[in-house]
Amino acid sequence: MCGIVGYLGPRETVQVLMEGLRRLEYRGYDSAGIAVFHGGKIEVRRAQGKLTILEEAIAGESLEGRLGIGHTRWATHGRPSDDNAHPHKAGSIAVVHNGIIENYLSLKKVLMEKGHVFNSETDTEVIAHLIDHFHREGLPFDEAVRRALGEIKGSYALGVLCEKEPDKLIAARSESPLVVGLGEGELFIASDTPAVLTYTRNFIFLEDGEMAVLSGGKVEVLDLEGKSIPREPKRVMWNPLMAEKGGYKHFMLKEIMEQPRAVTDTIRGRISEDRSEIVFEGLDTDEKMVKEINKIALVACGTSYHAALVGRYLIESLSRIPVEVDIGSEFRYRNPLVDEKTLLVAISQSGETADTLAALREGRKRGARTLAICNVVESSLSRESDYTIFTYAGPEIGVASTKAFSTQLVILYLISLFLGKRSGHIDHPHMEEFIGELVKLPHLLEEVVREHKEIERIARKYVHAKNFLYLGRGINYPIALEGALKLKEISYIHAEGYPAGEMKHGPIALIDREMPVVALATRDDTYEKVMNNIEEVHAREGRIIALASQDDKEIASKVEDVISIPPTISALTPMLLTIPLQLLAYYIADFKGNDVDQPRNLAKSVTVE
Ligand code: M6R
Repeated sequence: MCGIVGYLGPRETVQVLMEGLRRLEYRGYDSAGIAVFHGGKIEVRRAQGKLTILEEAIAGESLEGRLGIGHTRWATHGRPSDDNAHPHKAGSIAVVHNGIIENYLSLKKVLMEKGHVFNSETDTEVIAHLIDHFHREGLPFDEAVRRALGEIKGSYALGVLCEKEPDKLIAARSESPLVVGLGEGELFIASDTPAVLTYTRNFIFLEDGEMAVLSGGKVEVLDLEGKSIPREPKRVMWNPLMAEKGGYKHFMLKEIMEQPRAVTDTIRGRISEDRSEIVFEGLDTDEKMVKEINKIALVACGTSYHAALVGRYLIESLSRIPVEVDIGSEFRYRNPLVDEKTLLVAISQSGETADTLAALREGRKRGARTLAICNVVESSLSRESDYTIFTYAGPEIGVASTKAFSTQLVILYLISLFLGKRSGHIDHPHMEEFIGELVKLPHLLEEVVREHKEIERIARKYVHAKNFLYLGRGINYPIALEGALKLKEISYIHAEGYPAGEMKHGPIALIDREMPVVALATRDDTYEKVMNNIEEVHAREGRIIALASQDDKEIASKVEDVISIPPTISALTPMLLTIPLQLLAYYIADFKGNDVDQPRNLAKSVTVE
């Protein structure tokens, strides 16, 4: 949601903080701020708006120091404003915070009665005042933080400074991610590793209920009783270049173009040499698992939810195990039929989405085994699940999810084959054939990506449309939903995804020259039916962009624009249809002059419910 960075070391602190915030801006971008220990005081600079506004505000200032914290905000409590931006300072204490403090109003009341004066509408400011309060009562800085953590209820990742401790940075986490980076003679904190990957790849991943005291070049991890916890750093595989734009105009475009590579990396090592087995470390040694489960519950949000919808088609058809799919935020409110015979699969790029985590916890409470499909190592979702299968998309910085989606689909193909084999529903020839097509995917995706100029040409024609309809059937219906989501989140054009067969039950009333229809019409079992829907739109003078199989020469006479898709088996068409829809949304948004990587009101990872 918001982004945190902190630094203790010999470099130019402001530069390290600003660079870290730039890398984290995708997590929140309605305001930003830094606090730097300078000349024996903590100097705070904050500004509403994008990071560039803060940059301009501090340009020319000499804020030298070797200790500081920074924050980029996505507003929850209190509108975006200079005063509501972090860091918040109370007395000698400065705080940056991600998460939500649920009991902030009652704490604020007590603190105000004691004479504390508040300057913002945020929940965060309460934390600064509370620590300051205990510190004034005589507790050392570390103790004061611990006492305050004992009082607050809710979720937090925190970075805290104290004016009387020029060599100390305290970090703490509960239900909101935070890492400590270990460099040569320097230390970092960050809400996400890419913020400081330029400086180190060695991290301590804090767990809930832990705080870290960074001081004297060392890190001590403690629990909330003050007991020291020995923690070994872990080395992350991501490198700094992966979090760079690499010459592309936007991260989103780079991430779309990277999909052939991301898919290759996600498949690699997971198929046996003779193509007869899917290999998932951890899962494949649990022989009982497939025998014992009688149902799979897929839970996810947003784009990951669309991957789950594709997953239902795949798992049910290849393994014949019944599958239910729920949106993360809905799952626990419908008293779901989940027990120890259920495998709950939670899908999330970030592994930190609060609603998906809540659904996972609900499933666990009811006895389900849990499996996470996740892109971020050491994320909360992966740590709380019995098993994790990682997608190897690499860091996804663009707020609109692209490569995470296609790699989630890859994992769902592999899981379906894995379960199909174990449950005896797929024989060897079928398995071999499917895998043969699966391994061709990266080449086919390369072919699709090469069509980007044509998609850009088509996008230019539709920039002024106010509404879009996306139609798909069967396994491609969730791709229609995903295409519509991509368009609306970055271009702000209203778009709806519909199962093509439902069009005649309502949406057909909307069809006219002003409403472009994107029809997913590759040659598969539902081709004839989708063609009928295209005829219906055509007869009402609707403008159609069709995504069709390369060998379909007739479709051009029925539609205004055609995007060609190379041939594959119908189960794999979602993979090939996705990239053109991502590119279409991307180019339309870019032609409109929108900030594609940081669309309004959105944040990359939604860590609040
Ligand atoms: O990190 P997650 O996959 O759990 O995120 C879920 C959604 O918040 C995310 O997919 C969101 O819908 C994206 N903006 C889609 O592009």
